[in-house]
Amino acid sequence: MSSNPCAVAGASDQAGPADHLAPVYAQFPLDIVGASGVHLATRDGRRVLDLYGGHAVAALGYGHPRWVAALARQAESLHFQSNAVPLEVRARAAERLIRFAALPLETVFLCNTGAEANENALKLALRITGRRKVVAVEGSFHGRTAAAGAVTWGAAKKWYGFPQAPFDVEFLPRRDEGAIARVVGADVAAMIVEPVQGVAGAVDLGAEWLAALHARCAATGTLLIFDEVQCGMGRTGHPFAANLYGVTPDMITTAKALGAGFPCAALMMSARVARALATDDLGTTFGGGPLACAMMEAVIDIIEQDRLLANVRRLGALLRESCVVGPVLGVQGAGFLAGLRTRRPAKDVHRELLARDILTGTSADPNVVRILAPYVLEERHILELKDALAGLPP
Ligand SMILES: Cc1ncc(COP(=O)(O)O)c(C=O)c1O
Repeated sequence: MSSNPCAVAGASDQAGPADHLAPVYAQFPLDIVGASGVHLATRDGRRVLDLYGGHAVAALGYGHPRWVAALARQAESLHFQSNAVPLEVRARAAERLIRFAALPLETVFLCNTGAEANENALKLALRITGRRKVVAVEGSFHGRTAAAGAVTWGAAKKWYGFPQAPFDVEFLPRRDEGAIARVVGADVAAMIVEPVQGVAGAVDLGAEWLAALHARCAATGTLLIFDEVQCGMGRTGHPFAANLYGVTPDMITTAKALGAGFPCAALMMSARVARALATDDLGTTFGGGPLACAMMEAVIDIIEQDRLLANVRRLGALLRESCVVGPVLGVQGAGFLAGLRTRRPAKDVHRELLARDILTGTSADPNVVRILAPYVLEERHILELKDALAGLPP
């Protein structure tokens, strides 16, 4: 029998391929065969409004013509060369990302996943400072590799498979100003924080607290890392949450919406960090490959040309104004990293919305439904969500 709940719930009348996939994912009961715009098409003919975007990845929705054309163009001209050769498309992608961010971060290391970007950021901080302790924030999620998992809240109990963390780790209570000076001392190499926590349930840590963290890091020589894998690349309605809050860290990691479906990630760094780099300090085979770079460039072009940041800000505000109905008590987070705080268990609301052909996400908070909508969403889609929520039991 299949251990894959999607296969069970989906292709009931079709003999699909045998299931050889590792049984490690809980899956939505959806058998998706295609997608277009902001809608998913299922094998049984449903058209589902996607407000979750594949864990915050599908920022441009599906089949965006300029995204597709950029991929095809690059695939036809040069689909791969490693970092052992200079490529114009790679230089352009880095320049485009730095210009998009408009922050005093001048250097980019291109890699493949959010966890890999965080792993490299932490490695650099430990090496530059010569210290062996990292501070993270309660509720954080930074990825599943050795270092990223070590700074992920609750990982040690739930899934961290390594016998020990590669450095000392302490967790800071969220938004607790008094705790900052107590925990972030001169022995701390890096402070890693998601300015808007994603997996935790769209928890906005706020400009004031982030500024206090920044000040403490500056005073103690600790490198401040913003993990913007989920909240970056326009998701808050600003290039990065660092722009939204007016706080510039020493490093920003980003992924997910960066390629809008093409796997890629980036670590942006300040001059202080970049100065410490020499040949061979960091590396990856696939990171910064020409396809990834063409897609980063295309994604930024589309976000800017189609004024998608303004769209996220406008519709993010509409979501907050209109969707506190039915089981929803309030909306937290920023832009399209939004958490609907529900009176009833979020998993029930999520299931009821899916039965009405609206896909949302849940989170680590049992009372938060997560909205990670594509930036190309339209007003009518928010109103569709509002009407569906209003029709649910409170
Ligand atoms: C804030 C944050 N950091 C890091 C990661 C890990 O990214 P990846 O799965 O690409 O390694 C995630 C993934 O959900 C994330 O939300």
